[in-house]
Parts: sequence; structure tokens; C-alpha cells
Amino acid sequence: MQLFIDSANVDEIREIAAWGVLAGVTTNPSLAAKEGRDFTVMLAEICDLVAGDVSAEVVATDTAGMLAEAEPLLAVSDKVTIKLPLTPDGLAACRTLSDRGVRTNVTLCFSATQAILAAAAGATYVSPFVGRVDDTANDGIALLEEICAIYATRGYGTKVLAASLRHPQHVAQAALAGADVATLPAKVFHQMVRHPLTDRGLEQFLADWAGYRGGA
Ligand code: E4P
Repeated sequence: MQLFIDSANVDEIREIAAWGVLAGVTTNPSLAAKEGRDFTVMLAEICDLVAGDVSAEVVATDTAGMLAEAEPLLAVSDKVTIKLPLTPDGLAACRTLSDRGVRTNVTLCFSATQAILAAAAGATYVSPFVGRVDDTANDGIALLEEICAIYATRGYGTKVLAASLRHPQHVAQAALAGADVATLPAKVFHQMVRHPLTDRGLEQFLADWAGYRGGA
């Protein structure tokens, strides 16, 4: 399973990219708005930090508007993947872009049947929002498992990108479910890497090594 960071903050993307674990980035309008900067400038900086796909979301709600908005985003870098909402207009834009060979991420997926539509529209990625399903007292991981099982059974080419992951357990569950990609905030990367036994073990190794006299 590839790991993407869900962020529009250049500093935190740079930090996690330096770990050598990042395969891509997802942004969304809320994350971008938080930064208060020109989106295409920010997008160019983000594309310079990672080798893989960088999702940039359109905010138009009609197909023609989405396609028009995609153009300047695509001009930023060949890493840009156009993120489209899972609506009839978003699906139509997805079909047009995928027929042109443009990579797409169909987002805001909350049901297996929506995920089937995204695959039928030729999406490169579909993004089920696990945490937001949990927020409604439903089971986001169960939805992810259902989508992964359907995609595997049908042999769909669309990749399942587990999104709205809120904690490390979500990441492990997404991997077990068979998600192709998991996108997570920087905070979850930090939670994943830390383990008290790693810290204690390293401390002990360093202390033992400091007292080592080369066998003399
Ligand atoms: C995915 O592409 C979305 O940007 C994201 O994962 C949403 O996460 P949230 O539900 O924590 O806002």
C-alpha cells in the first residue's frame, strides 16, 4: 500500500517526504484554504517535493467548469491528478479527462455503489472517506473492505485510495482491507513512527555503546 500525505502545507509535506516514505500527496479545498496562499504556486512547490501523484481538487460544480479549472492545474506539473467530487457532473468530467489520459481522483465517496460509478467513469483513484463515515456512527473500514472486495472481484483498474484516515489503526486496517493507497495527515505519520520500546531500546543501545571500550 502506498502512503500519501493529506496536506497542503509545504513544510509538513517536506518533513514527511524527507523520511523517504511518501508516494504522493492529496489536497482538498479546505486544506488549501487554510494555507491562505495562491493555490497554483503552492501546488508547484508541493509537486517539487514528491515523486508521485499530487491531487488538486476543482471547486466548480458543473462539468464544463470542472474541465476549465483542470487546465491551469494540469499546466503546473505532470504529477497533478485532478480531484473531482462524486456527483453526476464530477463523473462526466472524470470520463472526459480519463479519455484524454489525465489522471483523476474521484473524491467524497461514501458508498460501494458510488465507488462502482467512479470505476465505470475511468477514475485513476476513488477516495472513500473512512473517518467521515465513522463520524456518522457507521463503519468506515467496513465500507472500505466492501469497495476493495468489489474492485478485486471485478478486476477494476481504478485504485482504492483510503481517505479521511484519523489514526494509525485506520492505516493498518486500510492495508488489511487491500487499499492501494492510504492518505493521512502529518499527525498520523508521527503517531505511526513512535513506539516507546523503540525509544527505550535506542537509549539502551547508545548507553551500552558509550560504555564500550572495544573489548579492552
Ligand atoms: C482526502 O483526499 C481528503 O482530503 C481527506 O482525507 C479528508 O479527511 P478529513 O475527513 O479528515 O477532513
